[in-house]
Amino acid sequence: MKVLIIGSGGREHTLAWKIFQSERVEKIYVAPGNDGMSDLAERVPIQIDQIEELANWALANKIDLTVVGPEDPLVNGIVDHFEAKGLRIFGPNKEAALLEGSKVFAKSILKKYDIPTAEFEVFTDPDAALNYLEEANYPLVIKAEGLAGGKGVVIASKKEEANAAVERIMEDKVFGDAGDRIVIEDFLEGQEISVLALTDGEHILPLAPAQDHKAIFDGDEGPNTGGMGAYSPTSFMTDDLWDEVCEDILEPTVKALKEEGVSYKGVLYAGLILTDTGMEVLEFNARFGDPETQVILPRLEDDLVELMELVIDGRLSEKKSLSWDERAAVCVVLASGGYPLTYETGFEIKGLDDLKQHDNLLIFHSGTKLVGDKWFTDGGRVLGITVLGDGILDAINQVYDFLEEIEFEDIHYRTDIGFKIIED
Ligand SMILES: Nc1ncnc2c1ncn2[C@@H]1O[C@H](COP(=O)(O)OP(=O)(O)O)[C@@H](O)[C@H]1O
Ligand SMILES: [Mg+2]
Repeated sequence: MKVLIIGSGGREHTLAWKIFQSERVEKIYVAPGNDGMSDLAERVPIQIDQIEELANWALANKIDLTVVGPEDPLVNGIVDHFEAKGLRIFGPNKEAALLEGSKVFAKSILKKYDIPTAEFEVFTDPDAALNYLEEANYPLVIKAEGLAGGKGVVIASKKEEANAAVERIMEDKVFGDAGDRIVIEDFLEGQEISVLALTDGEHILPLAPAQDHKAIFDGDEGPNTGGMGAYSPTSFMTDDLWDEVCEDILEPTVKALKEEGVSYKGVLYAGLILTDTGMEVLEFNARFGDPETQVILPRLEDDLVELMELVIDGRLSEKKSLSWDERAAVCVVLASGGYPLTYETGFEIKGLDDLKQHDNLLIFHSGTKLVGDKWFTDGGRVLGITVLGDGILDAINQVYDFLEEIEFEDIHYRTDIGFKIIED
């Protein structure tokens, strides 16, 4: 079969790498992709927001399965468009993707169905929000309702910060109409864990848990990024907690959506926090995480394409469990200095080719460019280096040894990926 992957980052490179291993697949295309994936997939020069063009291209090229990486096309209804043309596509439709596209929708589902999440209020009027902040307890959390590229959440330790956030989001409209409404919620404390599950709208099949590292600097300091590293599995997830996640969060969420008349098919990503009183939902995403995918898929032994087909056909219940590589995976993201703010690109990347010989090491490209036979930086996040090791500590040690071989000007990466496990 012919598969089209939509997106261009490290997550999509990882999807291409995993899908390439499926015996069912003869050819992979990626739109628009990046140079680092060219050995796995043929690039198609159509952007992720050109939904009509993508669907027409898939139809003309007899694509058997399309896999959507990022959230924007999902929230904009790419799945509905493809399905209307009779094309098979993996991901939630527009209505279901609202679980990520609207934090107000997600919170209202959580509340209505009694699924654990922080207490919250929704505001459409900035004055009402500012008024509420007068008497509120701090710290608290302010969230723009819509997609804001991971920048729409402010943790305010006092009233002045909260007021400023409300003004920026609701009055200055820094996130456009994604900030027409906001959620103000209680601040929760604990370890954050990402649990991604496949679901066909009826059944769920959770993937191994992972932990992301959002902040740019070591010790979780500095502004949030798309993600600077991840590891899987995580020792925080005991069997009891796992049951709690499945029984109290994932299954009830899918059931709640169904009751609301929404059939959710695809990956349901639950951003969770382990508080003193148990697991709570911080948010949902409607797709694979980046860089969680870079540590989850290398450990998955099952055929991903087969799983995606079961999801699309509503036959996920036929698959009782998944097989996982016993080894642990750690991914460290190499970024351009200055990211997530301003940064320069176009620097030569040295040392990549020599690393290819290690078979427990995977190099996933996020933002690179090949000119002649040389690699250059071409984005904020440049590369994700994943290592499989005998336990997390071994994987961490190995990944940092390998990283010393890679060089480019202004290189920045966290030196403490997995530190919460080490401190545990
Ligand atoms: N209620 C909360 N309490 C504490 N921290 C929070 C809370 N909500 C969000 N955060 C922090 O903010 C980050 C981003 O929030 P999230 O809801 O995941 O939005 P998004 O990923 O869309 O930016 C979380 O990963 C977490 O670190
Ligand atoms: Mg998040």
